[in-house]
Amino acid sequence: MSALRPLAASLLLLLLCSAAAVSGHNITAILEGFPEYSLFSSYLSQTKLADEINSRQTITVLALDNGAMSALAGKKPLSVIKNELAVHVVLDYFDPQKLHQIPKGSTLSTTLYQTTGNAPGNTGFVNITDLQGGKVGFGAAAPGSKLDSSYTKSVKQIPYNISVLQISAPILVPAILAAPAPSASDTNVTALLEKAGCKTFAGLLVSSGVLKTYQSALEKGLTVFAPNDESFKAKGVPDVSKLSNAELVSLLLYHAVADYTPIGSLKTSNGPISTLATNGAGKYDFTVKTAGDSVALDTGVDSSRVASTVLDSTPVAIFTVDNVLLPTELFGKSPSPAPAPEPVGAPSPSPVSPAPGPAVEAPSPLAASPPAPPKETPEGSPAAGPAVESANSRSDSAAGDSKAPTLLAAVVAVSATVVSSLLMS
Ligand SMILES: *[C@@H]1O[C@H](CO)[C@@H](O)[C@H](O)[C@H]1NC(C)=O
Ligand SMILES: *[C@@H]1O[C@H](CO)[C@@H](O)[C@H](O)[C@H]1NC(C)=O
Ligand SMILES: *[C@@H]1O[C@H](CO)[C@@H](O)[C@H](O)[C@H]1NC(C)=O
Ligand SMILES: *[C@@H]1O[C@H](CO)[C@@H](O)[C@H](O)[C@H]1NC(C)=O
Repeated sequence: MSALRPLAASLLLLLLCSAAAVSGHNITAILEGFPEYSLFSSYLSQTKLADEINSRQTITVLALDNGAMSALAGKKPLSVIKNELAVHVVLDYFDPQKLHQIPKGSTLSTTLYQTTGNAPGNTGFVNITDLQGGKVGFGAAAPGSKLDSSYTKSVKQIPYNISVLQISAPILVPAILAAPAPSASDTNVTALLEKAGCKTFAGLLVSSGVLKTYQSALEKGLTVFAPNDESFKAKGVPDVSKLSNAELVSLLLYHAVADYTPIGSLKTSNGPISTLATNGAGKYDFTVKTAGDSVALDTGVDSSRVASTVLDSTPVAIFTVDNVLLPTELFGKSPSPAPAPEPVGAPSPSPVSPAPGPAVEAPSPLAASPPAPPKETPEGSPAAGPAVESANSRSDSAAGDSKAPTLLAAVVAVSATVVSSLLMS
């Protein structure tokens, strides 16, 4: 059991943290009435964390006033600021009263950073400690970290959905601050795609020259939806070698958006999204359909699940998708240049990495706090690793979908085991 524990704990964690349908709150609107948090709010928007916050329930935002926020931001790249700010979003509801009723006076609470799947050790958790004299301290979860920040005041509560609390100083996580900031222009898109099982797509980008268009968009913001290798062999998918050069270029440009659009932003999008192929002659857009934690792109001809996250580093996001995205401009009309594909069914309920977890109801407000962090996990080993990997490998095969129900059952069973072992201990 001990070997399984980190895996089981992270599965349970992911179950409980699964974002529910878009909730009613809007963090930008909440903070609008408070000029002292304008910089904090602006960074939440720039990093798109605002969308992530708006797509979740049972959440606590630890707000920084303009002085503390500018100290945190400094001259740091946006990708580092995003990771730091993600530590300031706790996946649990703490109003001022609950803050002073923490069992045993101290807890490690899960943050949004943990859901990225890249949080080493317990960097994805925050230490909240009820100190003497009614003071509540906040700090990084790494053992020996100081509680450098403290609760200042309540900003806003929408009971059990979102609580916004001001804290005195940023929660600094040395591992995030020390990580080398990747330069967007140095991103090797093809190398990442090849590693993620999208060799065919990467090869087409190179041979068609479309890679250059992608690369020139990297610094201003780019999101790529890369079909995996199996998807090109799927029944009903046009033979790309029979497309004209112009059609192939349009098809490849259709798989990218000239904007940084992480998963939270996809979930909260409403209306069609333009792509790099969008021009005067064709809309070449698609819409996003969200069901629980599953995000699918609907082109009008077919629908494709967003399967896994290859890269999410402001301002670049790369996802894999299960199906080649077929724009109506090329494949919707008759006579079409290629056989029309079979209609693809509703998005599967499988999750999107890096926040995998079946679509489940949001945890009830009265439910226990998210599970304890993986204290037994050795420093440096990513706690969410196994679950994320299994989600990725599942998405890599077309046959994976049929395994989803089994996996869901396994997740539920394992989680139940963890719950009972937690209850018994
Ligand atoms: C909390 O969110 C749920 C789901 O969106 C919504 O139905 C409910 O009205 C919200 N509660 C409040 C107090 O806004
Ligand atoms: C949230 O509020 C801001 C500011 O009021 C507004 O600009 C934005 O459109 C709102 N977002 C959503 C998703 O409603
Ligand atoms: C939180 O940090 C304090 C100070 O470093 C430490 O004493 C306490 O054990 C930590 N709490 C948890 C739950 O790890
Ligand atoms: C990117 O990676 C590919 C291997 O996938 C390699 O052939 C290419 O030279 C790399 N490009 C750069 C600019 O490093």
